[in-house]
Order: sequence, then C-alpha cells, then structure tokens
Amino acid sequence: MSDQKFNIIDISRGYTDGDVDTNLSLQPTLNEIADARFSRRQTVLGGAKATAAAFLGSTMLAACDADSFFNNDDEVAVSAGTDGAASAGQTVTLTGTVTTGTASAAQWTQTSGPAVTLVGTGATVSFMVPGVATATPATFRFAAGGASDETTITLNPAVLGFAAVPHSLADIIVVPAGHVVTVVTKLGDPIAAGVPAYANDGTDDNFAQRIGDHGDALYWYGINTAGARDDNSSTRGLLVQNHENLNVQYLHPAGPTNVAAGPRPLAEALKEIEAHGVSVTEYRDAGNRAWSYIQTSTFNRRITPNTPVDFSGPVRGTDFIKTVFNTAGTTGRGTINNCANGHSGWGTNMTCEENWAGYFRRDNSGAGTDNAVRSARELVALRRYGVTSNTGNFAWSTASATDSRFTRWDARAKAGSAVEDYRNEPNTMGWVLEIDPFNPASTPRKRTALGRFGHEGAWLSNLVEGKKVAVYMGDDSRREYLYKFVSNASWSAADAQSANRLAIGDKYLDAGILYTAIFNADGSGTWVPLVFGSVPNRKATGADPEYVFASQADILVNTRLAADAVGATPMDRPEWTAVNPANGEMYLTLTNNNAAGRTLTGTDAANPRHYNDPKGAASQYGNSNGHIIRLKEAASDPAATTFTWDIYLFGADSTDTDAANVNLSGLTTANDFSSPDGLWFARPQNPSGQGKPLLWIQTDDGAMTDRTNCMMLAALPGSVGDGGAKTITNTGTGGATATQATRVGAVATAATLKRFLVGPKEAEITGVDSTPDGRTLFVGIQHPGENGTPGAPSSNWPQSQSGTASGRPRSAVAVITRTDGGIVGL
Ligand code: FEO
Ligand code: CA
Ligand code: CA
Repeated sequence: MSDQKFNIIDISRGYTDGDVDTNLSLQPTLNEIADARFSRRQTVLGGAKATAAAFLGSTMLAACDADSFFNNDDEVAVSAGTDGAASAGQTVTLTGTVTTGTASAAQWTQTSGPAVTLVGTGATVSFMVPGVATATPATFRFAAGGASDETTITLNPAVLGFAAVPHSLADIIVVPAGHVVTVVTKLGDPIAAGVPAYANDGTDDNFAQRIGDHGDALYWYGINTAGARDDNSSTRGLLVQNHENLNVQYLHPAGPTNVAAGPRPLAEALKEIEAHGVSVTEYRDAGNRAWSYIQTSTFNRRITPNTPVDFSGPVRGTDFIKTVFNTAGTTGRGTINNCANGHSGWGTNMTCEENWAGYFRRDNSGAGTDNAVRSARELVALRRYGVTSNTGNFAWSTASATDSRFTRWDARAKAGSAVEDYRNEPNTMGWVLEIDPFNPASTPRKRTALGRFGHEGAWLSNLVEGKKVAVYMGDDSRREYLYKFVSNASWSAADAQSANRLAIGDKYLDAGILYTAIFNADGSGTWVPLVFGSVPNRKATGADPEYVFASQADILVNTRLAADAVGATPMDRPEWTAVNPANGEMYLTLTNNNAAGRTLTGTDAANPRHYNDPKGAASQYGNSNGHIIRLKEAASDPAATTFTWDIYLFGADSTDTDAANVNLSGLTTANDFSSPDGLWFARPQNPSGQGKPLLWIQTDDGAMTDRTNCMMLAALPGSVGDGGAKTITNTGTGGATATQATRVGAVATAATLKRFLVGPKEAEITGVDSTPDGRTLFVGIQHPGENGTPGAPSSNWPQSQSGTASGRPRSAVAVITRTDGGIVGL
C-alpha cells in the first residue's frame, strides 16, 4: 500500500480569499439538498459558493495512481482527491474515485477537525464550512472496496464574500452583484382578514390592523409547519418589528390638520397613535426564498399605544405610575417610540421606548396649575427627561376632552390628586416592554427593573448555564449613559423552551441590579450599581435643587438622575448594543455629537474626537460621524463589575477628514460611513455568526448625506485590545486645538469592513436579522422621503425599487438573498 500523498491537480484560484476554485454548477442542487435535510436542525447548512476543494474528474485521476491507496487483496485503489481550503459558509464537495479495479460501495467519513455534516452518500458528498476563529485542518477518509484514502481541507475563518457597494444617492436599495432585493411588509399593509389593501393616498385608516410607520428594529421568531415555536426554522416565522415614529405628512390626504397646537381631528390623531408600536407578522418562504407575509395569519398582531400592558418588577404598584386609568399602578396602555430591541433566550421580544418624552403635553408657561401643583422633585425629574412640551408631539391630547385615548397625553397636573389625572402618564413610558410573539392573546410586561430612560436597545449577554444574565442598554441622547442590568437568577438552559415565556421573563428580568458605566482613560471601566442606599443624592444643578432618592423605585423611574449622581460617563448618543456570540464582547454605537454637546475641551478617552466634517459649504463641528466602542467584561463574566474597552471603529468622511486625527480607522470610499446606529452580530446558528462572527452596521446619518444615502456595512471585527493607545489633536471653530488620548482598535481594511447596501433617499437603515440559516437577511428601511410633502414626495421608494418613480414613500422590510442561495455576507 502506498503511503505517498501529493497533489496532482492544480486547482485554479478563483476566489478572493485565495482558496480553492468555485464550482458554481453544483451549487443550487447541493444547497437545496442541504435545505431539505437540515432546515430545522441546530446545525444549519447554508452558503452556495460550492467550493470544489476535492472535486476531481475520473479522467484526471487516471493519471494519479500515486495519490491512491491500494488494497492489495483485490487490487482496488481509491483517491480522496487533492487537499484544499475553504472559508466559513462555503460548501465543499468531496469526490472520491476508484482509480484501480472496481468497487460497488463507497463512503466518506470525517476523521479529524471541527465536526461537519456530510450531505449525500457514496462517492460524492458535500459539507458547509463551519465558522472558525483561525485556520483549522479537517480530514476526510474515502473508502471503497476495502481501500481508503484521506484528504485534508483547511477550514478558514469567514471572509466578506461580496464586492463593496459604492456611495449612492439613488432612490433605490443598492446591493452587491449576485444579490436580490424583495420588499415584503410595508407601511399600511393589512395584517388581518378583511382589511383593505393600502391605498397609500392618505385615506387609509385602522392602523391597529396594518403595518405601522417608521419600521425600526426587527427580529425573526421561527415556527414550524405545525405552527409551533421552532428556533431553527428558516422557512416560516414571525417577524416582530418596531414602529418608532411617523412621516405624518403622508398619512393624511393633504398632511395633518392643526398639528402645531390643535385641536386635532380625532380620526387623524387615532390613526397616528395606532401607526406607532410593534407589529408581529407571519412570513413564509414559498420555496427557494420566495418570501411573502400572510395577511390572515392568526399570529399577526399589532401592539399599539392603546394595547393593555402590565407593569412588572420593583416599580409595579408604586405611586410613580398611578393614574386615573389605573389607580393601583399595576397596568397601563401600550408603548411608544419603539426603537431598537432585544430578544431573550426564551423566545420573547424586548421592545424599547426611546423618545417618548416629547409626546406629552405640559404647561411651562406658569399660567396653569401644572407647575404649581408639582413637587420640586417632580419638576427636576420632568426637566431631566425633557417632558417639557407645551402641546406634545402631534398634539394628540387636543383631539378629545373626554376620550382617555387622547387625554392621557395631557400630563398637566390638575388641582386634584395624581390618581385623578394623567400627570404620571409620562412615568408609564421609557421602559423595556417584553412581548411573547407566539401568543397573540398575551399581555406584554414592562420590565421596570431595567430602568427608565430613552431606551434604544436591550441586548442580552451570551447565555451560559449557571451564569447570570446581563442586558446591555444605551440611552439615546447626547451625553447620556450606557447601562447594564444583571439578573439575580443564574441561567438555566431548561428555561429556554418553556411554554410560559413571560413567566421566564419574570425570573430573569424582574430581580437584579442595574448598573451604569464609567469609562476610564486607561482603557479600564467600572459598572456602578444603581442601588438605593448606595447612590448619593444628585447634586443641585442649574435651576434644579438637590434630588434625594426615596426608594429603589425612585431610582428606576429616575434612572438618569441616579446615573448623574454616581458620575457615569456621558457618551456621544448611545444607540444599539450588540454582543459577539463567539467571545461575549459588547459593542455600542455612539451615533454622533455636536459642538454644543461636546466642546473642544469636553472630550474624554471614550468620546475623544472633536473636528469639522464639512458638508458642502457648511461646517459640522463636534463628533458628527460617531464611533463604535466595545468592552470586554472582566473574566468574560456578564456579571463582572469591571471591564476593559477600546474604540472599535470611527466613522469618517474619508474624503474630507484627516487620517492622523479624524479618520482613525483608515476608512476609504469603499467603507466610509457616518452616524452608526443599528448594530447586530450574525446569528450563531449559521457559520456567519460562529468562529469570527460577522457584524452588521447600519447608519442614521445626516452628516455625510451629501455623498451618499444611509447604508449598511458588514464587518469582521477583532477583539478588545487589537489596536493600541493613541493621542490625537482635535480642532474646533476658529482653529483652536486640544489634544486627547484614547484607545483605538485595529484599523479597518477592505477585508474587515465593506459597504454592503445603500438605501433610498432620505431613509435611515435600521433593523436587521436573518433566518437562522443566514440565507435570508431582513433589513428595515425607515422614513424614505422624510422631508417631502404629499404633493411632492422626495422619495418614491419602494415603488422606485421596481422602476416606478411615483407614489408616496413607505417604510418597509427589505428581504435580501443571494442568487446562488448562499449565506448572505459570506
Ligand atoms: Fe430611534 Fe436612537 O434611534
Ligand atoms: Ca435607532
Ligand atoms: Ca463631508
């Protein structure tokens, strides 16, 4: 038997990572086999770059005896083919060949390396390369007729397998070649039987049974063919999407009536209220990722500002949330300005109430009873949260004097007690609301232990048996803080599939400690507990007297005041959080700040830049392009009270900003961006979220929009500490300068950061998830044409996506797939 083994075939190098060649002709068949066999398994196959690492034709192998193993007894020799390499998400085909003699049965087995699932039987099988952090060999044995041979395939980490999309100002979604955009649920689409199709001319009503406006964060919850929860289903599921706000001008025939001060027509106000909240919509794949939603699905649901909710956790039943609607302080109505989200490990959705303060009416003139009746403490809290509008956004409270769906938005204190009016109604918003999407009859629960602020998102730490559960949360305003909640209970995997999902939420989200973050200049950081008894009084500030906390509920209702008191680090608008599924590091987008929010000398190591990014003739001083910070918990424990941090990525207009002090990540026109907001690591159920997981970054930009519409990028980040210390020179108006030391991550390269998508005009890109197999990406397109008018819309998307340049724009969910059916991004 020969033990020689060498490669005869010179495999062409057709792929950008220098790996073996790509056998496109095999892809669809192999991927559909994988689909059929593994769509509901934990190990999910995807990717259709069918890399033929060892796909050898028999004629070629006829000359290849030295590569074969003989069985001398029956004079059979076989070849397992040449060695090769492929990266995560690619499909490798192994073809064994009988090179001498004949053999009726043949079999492939894996003999070493990370376990893969071999698809197929006999001489030709395939497998998808799993996610790996570093190049890892795997060996496979081909056996037939008593002879065998081995081949080694080197499994490489993921690569960004698409060509970068250039800047675009077009009124369409632009994606790389080889990708397809399909628009599924759009503003106003009916999600109940009998609701008419959306006319999109301002006449539609009943948004309690239609898709809401301003689609924001979204998440996929798989269901199986029997209609039961199935976390690995990639063909049928529930898309849960937030509806943050309104392009109010397009919701009425000629725009809103009396929106400045009222009185608002009741029907207009009701439509606007119901167009907020959350939608749950069933999506189905008719085959080969032909997606549509099911209008009549019994799972479909709208949660609007009028939907009954329960309060849970330490604030439940306290005076802070007692109103004339619920004098017990235990229940409330709905949710508002739902921005980013989170999902639990037990099948629920966590929607976040962000800019809720502006919806409420106050009286700051001094003429009414509002200020006179309020205590000094209440007024400090109201000012700190910005509940200071004289009419409230959209002036809904002016639509009726008696209907509490409208009067609840009037937070002016009257002469009587707090349970006779809606002065406390603002305290019923600003929470994380947990929803069970699989049970349309369930009552969502506000998780008050997670604090009350401008909640952007609520992302869980990676769940580890026996470890506590952390929830990372940004408070989106300039100079607000980062928070972390840590459960008292330790994670038990047995809870993951409980049928009583909200009861599991009670266990992990109602009892624990809320922390806020201090970022130190040396790259270390501290989580400071916001626990009654340890939080000092909040000092007198400006017109505000000292604030003395009265209880833990007081701290949770007035979380910003407590974080002020402990000296949390004010950040450049904390947006989404994301957790690397491979190593647990937490990423936080800091979308931007201006010169008023952070002066030239007001920078710190974690918010280090102050510069001008010119936009045409206009100057934009401050940190108008934003950055992404990340942290590693001590001992990688989600419950740690210390961490290390660095700045993973700095936004920059690569044409306008200087490399030494502003474009610190080395961006080029192929990957420059501004104002990062949405942030999401690929799901760990497929190779794009394993090993070296892929990070998706979405922008909500106004600073670089002279060059390009908002976008989504794909990245392959390293880890905290992969860069180093750096001191930069900041520049303010008039040429004044100041130096700032900071901690920067490794510079970006074309291999680690690429622009994947550019959106339509005046749209923010927000909301991203995939099916568990990674082959379908769901992306939210929010407020296209936000500056237009009913008579002159400034975008016609999504109609424009298929070539129709007319009609009012609509926020919508775009589904992105690859023409070869592979994992998107790889
Ligand atoms: Fe709703 Fe902070 O974006
Ligand atoms: Ca956002
Ligand atoms: Ca610029």
